[in-house]
Amino acid sequence: MTDLAALTSLPHDQRTKAFLDYLDRGRAAGPVARSSQPGVWEVFGYDEALQVLGDHRTFSSDMNDMIPEDERELASAAQGNFLGIDPPRHTRMRELVRRAFTPHVIAGLEPVIAETAEELLDGIELSADGTGTFDVVADYAAPLTARVIAKLFGIPEKDHGMFTVWADALLGARPAGELGRAEESAVRELGELVRFASAYLLDIIHQRRAEPRDDLISALARAEVDGRSLEDHEIVGVIGMFVIAGHLPSSVLVGSTVMSLDSHPDVLDEVRADLDLLPKVVEEVLRWRSPLVRDQRVTASGTRLGGEDIPAGAVVCVWLLSAHRDAAHFERAEEFDIHRPNQGRHIGFGKGIHFCLGAPLARMEARIALTALLRRFERIEVLPDSGIRFHPSIGVLGPVRLPVAVRRATQAG
Ligand code: HEM
Repeated sequence: MTDLAALTSLPHDQRTKAFLDYLDRGRAAGPVARSSQPGVWEVFGYDEALQVLGDHRTFSSDMNDMIPEDERELASAAQGNFLGIDPPRHTRMRELVRRAFTPHVIAGLEPVIAETAEELLDGIELSADGTGTFDVVADYAAPLTARVIAKLFGIPEKDHGMFTVWADALLGARPAGELGRAEESAVRELGELVRFASAYLLDIIHQRRAEPRDDLISALARAEVDGRSLEDHEIVGVIGMFVIAGHLPSSVLVGSTVMSLDSHPDVLDEVRADLDLLPKVVEEVLRWRSPLVRDQRVTASGTRLGGEDIPAGAVVCVWLLSAHRDAAHFERAEEFDIHRPNQGRHIGFGKGIHFCLGAPLARMEARIALTALLRRFERIEVLPDSGIRFHPSIGVLGPVRLPVAVRRATQAG
């Protein structure tokens, strides 16, 4: 039996290897298995992953029953968080948000991301000879993605730092190796944070209702479906969901791409010669080192999946990263190949009705962040012994600390 919590405390390279071994062993034994953790089933196969994500009636996303009765604010904030609800409410909420978070809004963020990336790179101190070291995730990717979300919602600049703290706390509500439900004490601690964050956001929502601006909160306040618009507490939930879903995986994706290129110098050379290859690189990283390695559902009724009988009320952990290593769908799955023909088949952004609403933004952020980085520095070398740290949760795979040594490109000025 593999202790997933113990695995997350290993040094990053051993952890990745042990985790991939765990998934490969699981898949070899069968596409679906009862977990050693009570009440949990694990899905290792690609087809079975699609079956779960494509059937929201049997595999529900609503895990709100873990919230203690007296944590009212948390439950009400969760109402706007449509990641964790089912149709018909999910359909209506998602459509309301989709009407505000349009391709036009996302395209409008392109210059903001590019400017913020340059600003952050300008802030990095280098020696007179143009060399130096910095943390490419903590000092660059993480503040970049946090600021983008904050700017998207029109949160004042001075409060941007708070977003990172919220995102980390919201994600940390579960013990590292836990596949099932969150612990009640952790949910209660989270309640404190949600109360504080809700009060802060409600204040901004009231301001935007009175004086709309060109930001997503104002657009969310205006959006209507069938004559019904979002209530204030639902907007708080939507923002909370974007903070949880939008910031950390995007910064981890940039870090994992830097690591993947560092360990594949031939690909790095190819990409440096043609930066238009970056979207292909990012897609392959989403498959090969998916920042979010699992999705979760709970069975609304008893069902049969991958030859196993699963009772009602079971937690189903879908290992997206294992599906990406399923040989029936990805040849030489363990290889990092930016030119693989069926690249678009990965499910790193999920699949079905909960497919990631921020995928276009995440892809654009990664492309811009990596383009700026590769243009600015002609050498970027991961420093393996200088404190690389991965996110502690088993659900996230990738660096939150990634020190690199760099040399400024001569033409970067
Ligand atoms: C590399 C970055 C990202 C990854 C790997 C990622 C991954 C995912 C995955 C796997 C899901 C599906 C969850 C499920 O099925 O239960 C999801 C949903 C979602 N993501 Fe992302 N995401 C990323 C970035 C973003 C960004 C930047 C935003 C917003 C700005 C965002 C907003 C959302 C939302 C709102 C949902 C819920 C959709 C729904 O339930 O209908 N994500 N994401």
